[in-house]
Amino acid sequence: MSVIKVLGISGSLRRSSFNTAALRAARDLAPEGVEITIFDGLREIPPYDDDERLGTGYPPPVAAFRAAVKAADALLFAMPEYNYSVPGVLKNAIDWASRPPEQPFDGKPFAVMGAATGLLGTARGQHELRRIVTGLNGYVLNKPEVYISQAATRFDAAGRLTDEASRALVSQLVTSLRDWTLRLRG
Ligand SMILES: Cc1cc2nc3c(=O)[nH]c(=O)nc-3n(C[C@H](O)[C@H](O)[C@H](O)COP(=O)(O)O)c2cc1C
Repeated sequence: MSVIKVLGISGSLRRSSFNTAALRAARDLAPEGVEITIFDGLREIPPYDDDERLGTGYPPPVAAFRAAVKAADALLFAMPEYNYSVPGVLKNAIDWASRPPEQPFDGKPFAVMGAATGLLGTARGQHELRRIVTGLNGYVLNKPEVYISQAATRFDAAGRLTDEASRALVSQLVTSLRDWTLRLRG
């Protein structure tokens, strides 16, 4: 069986981001046959400008993001919730990637998880992300839903996900994303 390539996309630029740390945990917990690469170019993506897109085309960091999404077999988002919604840097990158030609989310399996310092673990923001990418004809993995609440208690100082229940959920998410990707291939 060929390897399933998953692109991990964190919605946080923060050095000690719990969400980027959750992606590292997902990478470590991935079952055999699943390879998770974490995209690290979100910071370079400029604010969306349709004049620039139509004038000089996609800026190189945007082209790199579009290519990475396109090349992946599946996507795994880990996002904070900012003001009950999707962080602007992530929404901005999705806006750039959503334009023609060959909009790369079309037909792409994807899963979402999130970590927040509060009690709701990004539940509100995650559902907005699901709606946005589903609108681009991405195929969302419905379950499990992974909401890592009170994140400061679930990671250690080195950014390792230490909470066993969260580790089990992340592991289940990656395995389910693999199964979902294979199922969609038919
Ligand atoms: C601008 C901003 C808005 C935030 N809004 C929310 C929110 O709506 N809900 C929530 O649970 N946490 C909110 N937080 C707190 C985040 O959960 C917390 O900063 C978290 O650590 C961000 O994820 P990260 O560690 O991956 O950067 C907000 C933080 C920032 C900076």
